[in-house]
Amino acid sequence: MSELKYQSGFGNEFETEALAGTLPVGRNSPQRVAHGLYAEQLSGTAFTAPRHANRRSWLYRIRPAAVHGAFEPFEQAAFHNDFGVEPVTPERLRWSPRPLPTVPADFIDGLFTMAGNGSAAGQSGIGIHVYAANRSMQDRFFYDADGELLIVPQQGRLRIATELGILEVEPQEIAVIPRGIRFRVELPDGSARGYVCENFGAPLRLPDLGPIGSNGLANPRDFLTPVAAYEDAEGDFDLIAKFQGHLWRAPIGHSPLDVVGWHGNYAPCKYDLRRHNTIGSISYDHPDPSIFLVLHSPSDTPGTSNMDFVIFPPRWLVAEDTFRPPWFHRNIASEFMGLVHGEYDAKAEGFMPGGASLHNSFTAHGPDAATFEKASAAATNKPDHIVDTMAFMFETRAVIRPTRQALESPQLQRDYAQCWQGLRKHFKI
Ligand SMILES: [Fe+2]
Repeated sequence: MSELKYQSGFGNEFETEALAGTLPVGRNSPQRVAHGLYAEQLSGTAFTAPRHANRRSWLYRIRPAAVHGAFEPFEQAAFHNDFGVEPVTPERLRWSPRPLPTVPADFIDGLFTMAGNGSAAGQSGIGIHVYAANRSMQDRFFYDADGELLIVPQQGRLRIATELGILEVEPQEIAVIPRGIRFRVELPDGSARGYVCENFGAPLRLPDLGPIGSNGLANPRDFLTPVAAYEDAEGDFDLIAKFQGHLWRAPIGHSPLDVVGWHGNYAPCKYDLRRHNTIGSISYDHPDPSIFLVLHSPSDTPGTSNMDFVIFPPRWLVAEDTFRPPWFHRNIASEFMGLVHGEYDAKAEGFMPGGASLHNSFTAHGPDAATFEKASAAATNKPDHIVDTMAFMFETRAVIRPTRQALESPQLQRDYAQCWQGLRKHFKI
C-alpha cells in the first residue's frame, strides 16, 4: 500500500531507530541518551513473567510520556465497558451493519460498544466494539490502559500512527495494538468501518500447533511490526485515555508519537488474513473450528482461552459424504461473529459485511434452512472452492453480554431466528 517499512515476526526482540545512533549499545538507560532523548521502559507483562511470556520495550523519545496535563472525564457515551447487569438473553442475535456517520466522527467518536464480558479490573474478558468514522483523528491521541486492541477493518483503510511506528491496514488485514500504546487513527479513504476486540486478558499470542507441526495457520513471519517513526510537533493536543471502563482527557502540548528509536518485544503489529494457511479435512467430516485459529489470549485454565480470534477464509472443501458447511452445534463457548468480505458459507442471506451475530453459550445455531437444503444435495465427490469470503469470530469462555444500546439499535434483526424455522422434518421409518 505504501513505502512503509516493517519488521517481520511475532513477539520478536525487535530493534529499530529512525535516526542513526539512537539505540544505546549495551545499556538500556544510559546516563545520557544519544540525540538528547529520554529513555523509558514500557512493560506489558509483570516484570517477573517467565521469559517466553515477558513483553516489554525500551523507548528513546523526545519527551517522557509523563509530560502532559491533568486528566478529566471525557464523554463518548457509546464507547464503554458497561456490559449490563440485566439478565442476558439466550436468544440468537444478529445485526445489520451500522451506517457510516452523517456528522464528522473520527475513530474515537465512531466507536460503539456491542457486547463484552469480564472487566479491565478483573483482567479477563473482552469488550466488543464496532467503529464507523468519516475523518482522521486530529490533534488528539488515544491509548487504552484496559485492553489490547485487535482491530478488524471491514471498509476503508486505516493508517495507525503509533508511538512505535506506523501501521497501514486495509480490510482483510488486522492490527494489534498492545495496551497502553498511544496512537492516532487516520483514514486514507475518507471513511472507515470495522470491528474492535478489546482484550482485558493475557496478550494475544500464536497458538501451539500440536500435531500440525512447525508450520501452518498464521505463520510468524507474516506478522509485521513497524519501524520507528517519530513526530517532533508542538501544539494544543488532547491525550484521551481509556482507564477502567471510562474515558479521560488530558491536555498535551506536543505529539506523544515522539519515539525516535526503540527495542523490545512489546509492539504493535499487523497481519494479512489472506496469508492464513488454512487447514481442513482431506477425507471426511471437518475439524472443529479451532482449526481456524489465528491468535488467542489464554486464560488461567489450560486449553481454555480468554478469547480466540478465528477466521473463515477462502478454502477448498473436499470432504466426501460429508455435510460441508459448519454443522448444527451448541457450545460451552460464546461466539461473536463478523463478516469482513463476501458471503459466509453457513448463511444464505442476512449476514452482511459489517454486520454481526451473537450465539451465546449453549444457544443452538447452525446453517439456515436454505443452506442446509443446498449442502445436503451437493455432490461431495467434487471439491468445492469457497472464494471471496472473510468471516471471523471472537470466541470466549465467558458469556458475551450485549449492551443495552446494541439490543435497542435499529440494526438488530428482530426476525433473525426465523432463518431456522424452515428446517423441515425429514424423519422416515
Ligand atoms: Fe457457532
